[in-house]
Amino acid sequence: MGDDRRVTAQGEPPPSDVFRARDGVLHAEGVDLRAIAREVGSPTWVYSAARVDAAYRAIERAMRAITDRDVLIAYAVKANGNLAVLRRLAALGCGADIVSGGELLRARAAGIPPERIVFSGVGKRREELALALTEGIRAIHVESEPELRVLGEEATRLGVEAPVVLRVNPNVDAGTHPYIATGLHDTKFGLEVDAARALVPGIVRHPHLALHGLSCHIGSQLDSPAPLEEAVTLLGRFAGECRALGAPLASLDVGGGWPLAYGHEDAPYPPAEAFAAAIRRGLEASGTTDLDLVTEPGRALVGDAAVLLARVIYVKHQGGRRFVIVDAGISELIRPALYGAFHAIAPVEPHAGERTPADVVGPICESGDFFAHERLLPPLAEGDLIALFGAGAYGREMSSTYNARPLAAEVMVEGDAWRVVRRRQTVEELWALEQGGRTP
Ligand code: LLP
Repeated sequence: MGDDRRVTAQGEPPPSDVFRARDGVLHAEGVDLRAIAREVGSPTWVYSAARVDAAYRAIERAMRAITDRDVLIAYAVKANGNLAVLRRLAALGCGADIVSGGELLRARAAGIPPERIVFSGVGKRREELALALTEGIRAIHVESEPELRVLGEEATRLGVEAPVVLRVNPNVDAGTHPYIATGLHDTKFGLEVDAARALVPGIVRHPHLALHGLSCHIGSQLDSPAPLEEAVTLLGRFAGECRALGAPLASLDVGGGWPLAYGHEDAPYPPAEAFAAAIRRGLEASGTTDLDLVTEPGRALVGDAAVLLARVIYVKHQGGRRFVIVDAGISELIRPALYGAFHAIAPVEPHAGERTPADVVGPICESGDFFAHERLLPPLAEGDLIALFGAGAYGREMSSTYNARPLAAEVMVEGDAWRVVRRRQTVEELWALEQGGRTP
């Protein structure tokens, strides 16, 4: 994330086992990125299957090491819901953290079983709650008193028992960018502990509600495990209270926030083991270690599993700056514009020549349509391919068709093979839902 404490103007792509130069040319696993661009054009996201697998295994290993109880890695689908990505994770045993009925159906379409799906979000509509109940998902994370009421009504109407997890807002400062901090009381997320406590007796009494657990998500890009330990301690203590009130509470969901290195950090993030150890310490401090554990990593599973390929359209010099204008823009990757986020950039082919400052910008009619300001890059010319790193999370998901730009293609690489996992949208498809639209 581009929070000011960590941002430096420059940054190399973080070392990667899968996105590496071979004979000077950037490859994804065994595939030359130029070949992909030749066949499917640009902009295009290129995913590495091996990287998704490795990222999942690292978090799973760290979590399993701290408990003998059941562990569920519920991938935050909002980071990247491409079906090929979801299927890859599903095959490893991964579940899903969803925030809408759409994500629920997407996760199901990818073969993620309902008992591995948890549902977060402050604004779940009645019909979305009903869908979750009919699908029989593992947990519905309740974030307000009115939501609990509607959930109770729907469970009663459907004659089922709703698996309630109270999402607690622990009022812990995750020390992260304000747009991705979610664990403070002045955000819209979760329930303050007192408010959550007040709901417990009603849930225990309700014939169609059952309190299965507690959850929290204090924010993304945690740069220290300490806030997580604090949050888990608080939740663990509250879990004990809930049990004393008669709730058969069995699980604790610690949320996402596992950090991803984008390449500009002053110091490396602590490893997954350090975050897992903090969770363990929190459980021990609260005296509640007999809980199944859930965690909801998003970007840590997919963020560095993709590059966004773009081609230089023009280079122009103006106002003392070198503008490298590429064919991707905020329509594909809005993170720099929205959060000042850093994404490393490198040419796909080897470039001799001095690195000088460049503004890498898109074709969209907004001054905010940029990927980098004054980034040191080698000489670049029309037709050159560049790669934007760390583009796997919150890239395609936050895409738009602004300026009538069709959604970009996506490709999955596996060893020396690759396949298109989302074809490029056609321009005609942009108006296919509009009355009177006709193909010129
Ligand atoms: N669980 C919940 C309830 C969440 O709200 C989120 C992210 C996650 C898990 C996953 O967080 P992660 O592990 O990916 O940090 N668009 C922003 C990020 C917004 C995150 C929203 N919630 C970005 O591009 O940085």
